[in-house]
Amino acid sequence: MNLLALNRTEFGNPANEDNIPSLAEAEVLLNEWVKIDSLKRHMRQVGTLMRAWAAEREQLDDTEQQKWQIAGLLHDADWDQWPEQHCRKIIEELESREVAPSIIRAIASHGPSHFGVEPETKMDKMLYAFDELSGLIHAYSLMRPTAYEGMQPKGVRKRLKDKSFAAQVSREDIRDASERAGIDLNELITFIIQHQAAVA
Ligand SMILES: [Fe+2]
Ligand SMILES: [Fe+2]
Repeated sequence: MNLLALNRTEFGNPANEDNIPSLAEAEVLLNEWVKIDSLKRHMRQVGTLMRAWAAEREQLDDTEQQKWQIAGLLHDADWDQWPEQHCRKIIEELESREVAPSIIRAIASHGPSHFGVEPETKMDKMLYAFDELSGLIHAYSLMRPTAYEGMQPKGVRKRLKDKSFAAQVSREDIRDASERAGIDLNELITFIIQHQAAVA
């Protein structure tokens, strides 16, 4: 039995699709809810990756980029303080704030094996694809003398194969997510290396 299963597939109200929190609003919530600095950094990194992908690869407008970033920024907001309610609590909070359902849905599907919600939209799939891989790459940067500088996809792949490195990162989720997104793992790794050092 999966304790984190959400047991539903509809999130938010379609009438609220234009209600997108500002970055400042999202940061207030993040700072109130999240106590662990490394988790805050992870959420900001994933938010940055989401926005960069929406802009550069999907050529989406600023409004859509904002939705992608907010989904990344808030996806783990309830993780450190209420792990047994992850990600039910943040979903219910965003629903009570009448936030755009596409943002809530992306958060609800960022771990299909945990929450039982399938990633459907491109935004859903990219949040799932970036999440664990971003964390593993950041862990790798911390053990390199030059951090992100000169990091190569090959080095990341080596760490992926070494199951004792960042052992909590699910290799199966990383494989499944890149497959669902239809993006080669090397391409994802390269994109993450290029974009997330700025939020290190
Ligand atoms: Fe999570
Ligand atoms: Fe995460």
